[in-house]
Amino acid sequence: MSFRRFPEGFLFGAATSSFQIEGATEADGRGASIWDTFCAEPGRIHDATDGRRACEHYVRMPEDVAMMADLGLRAYRFSVAWPRILPEGRGRVEPRGLAFYDRLVDRLLERKIEPWVTLYHWDLPEVLSQAGGWPARETGDAFVEYAAVVAARLGDRVKHWITHNEPWCISMLGYMTGEQAPGHKNWGEALRAAHHVMLSHGQAVPVIRAHSAGAKVGIVVNLCPAEPASPSAADADATRAFDGFFNRWFLDPVYGKGYPRDVIEDYARLGRIPAAELDFVRPGDLEAMAAPTDFLGINYYSRAVIRSDSVPESENAPRTVFATGERTDMDWEVAPQALTALLKRVQRDYAPAALYITENGCAYATAPDADGHVRDVERTRYFETHLAACLDATDAGVPLQGYFAWSLMDNFEWAWGYEKRFGLVWVDYETQVRIPKDSAHLYSRVIAAHGLES
Ligand code: FCB
Repeated sequence: MSFRRFPEGFLFGAATSSFQIEGATEADGRGASIWDTFCAEPGRIHDATDGRRACEHYVRMPEDVAMMADLGLRAYRFSVAWPRILPEGRGRVEPRGLAFYDRLVDRLLERKIEPWVTLYHWDLPEVLSQAGGWPARETGDAFVEYAAVVAARLGDRVKHWITHNEPWCISMLGYMTGEQAPGHKNWGEALRAAHHVMLSHGQAVPVIRAHSAGAKVGIVVNLCPAEPASPSAADADATRAFDGFFNRWFLDPVYGKGYPRDVIEDYARLGRIPAAELDFVRPGDLEAMAAPTDFLGINYYSRAVIRSDSVPESENAPRTVFATGERTDMDWEVAPQALTALLKRVQRDYAPAALYITENGCAYATAPDADGHVRDVERTRYFETHLAACLDATDAGVPLQGYFAWSLMDNFEWAWGYEKRFGLVWVDYETQVRIPKDSAHLYSRVIAAHGLES
């Protein structure tokens, strides 16, 4: 065992998102979001729950900020609920909605916790969805207007801005697999949605800067490193295709490379688009999407081991990559070493000015013992090994400048409802009592020591 120190200035925080924790979905003039609608549709949420109460953060915000300070967090990444600010999606601003985030920012600063604002973490105003949602270009225009309203109000104090959280999930889970709101299943819509999300990111960057002197602006992508299951050519090609679909489709345009040609050809061949061209890309879009940013946020949970389904498994041997066998409650493999490799690869291929892990964590249901203590051994280990993986990356020269644990507390895990618990802090949803888990105590020690025994 040796003590490994993080680079000077390395930032430690925790992340949440509005719909997952706030509750109070009808308070202070908030408009409906696509997640309210989605939750109300039978069969969409595994445990048939919704976000009406969640963690009651909207009313418990002061005690939650005090809890963050007690844990020693230096930064807090949260999202602003668009339907609280613009209940009709565009136009009329709801001052009570803005006032909530204003108070939150002030409280955080009072406790010396850096606010990191995500503008879009999936709660699109329902009216905009009715008008076409992300597959409609106008939704992107509305997003830029919304970004201006929030940046104008908070930009004097908030200096770290994230436009969108996870364009892959917004577009692919929302419009292709239908697992998330609004629950559509249409490739054409999904690719249009992705385009408008990334385009509105690029268009919002200068708008945010104009309202927030010295702001650092970036986007957050969820990346999934892919490894072929065998040395076969078929597995290599399936891995290329998966990486293109999941990672490059989003990183390439944001870093000025345009959409990856090989993936456009895959999509045309598979009939996902009518021809090997993207009819929704207008002149100037690719330049706008590639607006220079200050950092890239990466959400990392697991890797994928890819085997081609074009050849029978028996003919596709030997396997070279094996799962470690350890899986979280999401059934995601625990793979810290893939995080180091991913960070190095992103640095090599895209060279962002700075990198942050904007989410990393795991779901385990571990509940309080009879003595009220939450001994979440697996989660503690997960954070230790992934923080060590970050150190391996910084040792190798990757400009990784911070880490946000997902999540500050157990919350509404989208289509899974409250079944999956990702929190550093246990939430009793009946009483709303919060109990920091062992993993939270470990994280506090890491922050205080600015390093890790490993
Ligand atoms: C990410 C989301 C976050 C949370 C985690 C587990 O995809 O950004 O809101 O649901 O997964």
